[in-house]
Amino acid sequence: MQVGIDQIGLYTPNKYVDMVDLAHARNEDPNKYLIGIGQTQMSVADSTQDSVSMGINSARRYIDQIDKDKVGLLVLGTESSVDQSKSASLFVKTALQLKPEVRTFEVKEACFGLTAALMIARDYVRVHPEHTVIVIGSDIARYGVNTPGEVTQGAGSISMLIKTDPRILSLNDGHSAYSANINDFWRPNNSKTALVDGKYSTQVYLDFFTKPFNDYKKLKGWSTQDFGSLIYHLPFTKMGLKANRLSVEGQDETTSKRLEKSFAASKQLSKRIGNIYTAALYMSLLSLIENAQLEPNSLIGLFSYGSGAMAEFFSGNLVDGYEEVIDKSGDVRMLDRRKKLTIKEYENIFNKALMDPEDGVELVSDEENGNWYFAGTKNHVRQYKQK
Ligand code: COA
Repeated sequence: MQVGIDQIGLYTPNKYVDMVDLAHARNEDPNKYLIGIGQTQMSVADSTQDSVSMGINSARRYIDQIDKDKVGLLVLGTESSVDQSKSASLFVKTALQLKPEVRTFEVKEACFGLTAALMIARDYVRVHPEHTVIVIGSDIARYGVNTPGEVTQGAGSISMLIKTDPRILSLNDGHSAYSANINDFWRPNNSKTALVDGKYSTQVYLDFFTKPFNDYKKLKGWSTQDFGSLIYHLPFTKMGLKANRLSVEGQDETTSKRLEKSFAASKQLSKRIGNIYTAALYMSLLSLIENAQLEPNSLIGLFSYGSGAMAEFFSGNLVDGYEEVIDKSGDVRMLDRRKKLTIKEYENIFNKALMDPEDGVELVSDEENGNWYFAGTKNHVRQYKQK
């Protein structure tokens, strides 16, 4: 039975910072950000966008095209949780008007969260082939104004429909996982911004890539040459570039060129949106299939990494006709419509969003009509509204 990704929806908030402006404000050479880090812009979430509203907005990209009655499970992965107890997915499920019989919950393991959701979904559909599953990754990457991690922030969500006979990517059996208790990146309960040992996180990311990738190739009896493309969790595009350099090391010219070209296609959305934690790998997938010329049935290798740390390598084959299911022009429009912020405006929005709004005060959104937003709390209950 073929199970995999049938729909992908992307959402990112309506404001961004240009990395050249940020570099000037921080007295850095712009090429450090543009080339050294590999980012050109980053999306900024104001106080009215959070993991719930962004998750709703990414699923809205395709929700009217699916049979909602078939959805049996909704899993949301996030590390920007809005509640210590109640799942963000319950708010999302209500906004999407899914039936009460849906099983729904939230999962967490840093940026691995959406992969965890995807694997749960794949196994669920194998047992319940008549059902479909919605999985969502939704996050705001916040390190803080004037910190080394500032240039690697971002905000957004990816939602995917998982089902039998998928129209985008058919997931292959088998995976290779690797985990260890380390401290490269984490966010304590009393902090709205993440703590990170940036240089160490780069080193462990590469170690955690090498082992599962090699294990996976052994498991399947495949070599690097067999992959049409390799895509990576992208906290910032330079990190993936370093992993891709390891992949092409010692390969023949055709393989190296193919993997370099496909990596270049896979980083286009990340360069403009920034880090969206759980959803970053799947934004690379979307970027790849929107921007690369891929062979029919092309084998795509996916490397998922969540700090702390948990890594997994798995693969899928592209399904013929995938171009008709994705909405590249809609994604381009969403990015082009964003408002460019001055650095002062960004700092004000960023610092305001670190504070919880006063209970009872209604927040007003400047989002596009149709999009959902966080409207503040009433008697400490979170309110979500549609613009
Ligand atoms: N032109 C081109 N490249 C330049 C440059 C210039 N003028 N100036 C610096 N660079 C390069 C550096 O050589 C370096 O490249 P390298 O990584 O290939 O060595 C890169 O830009 C970054 O410079 P560095 O001095 O290391 O930056 P930094 O100390 O400000 O920190 C991070 C960069 C990435 C470590 C920091 O932004 C961070 O911690 N981000 C969060 C990391 C993260 O997301 N971790 C979780 C992973 S899942």
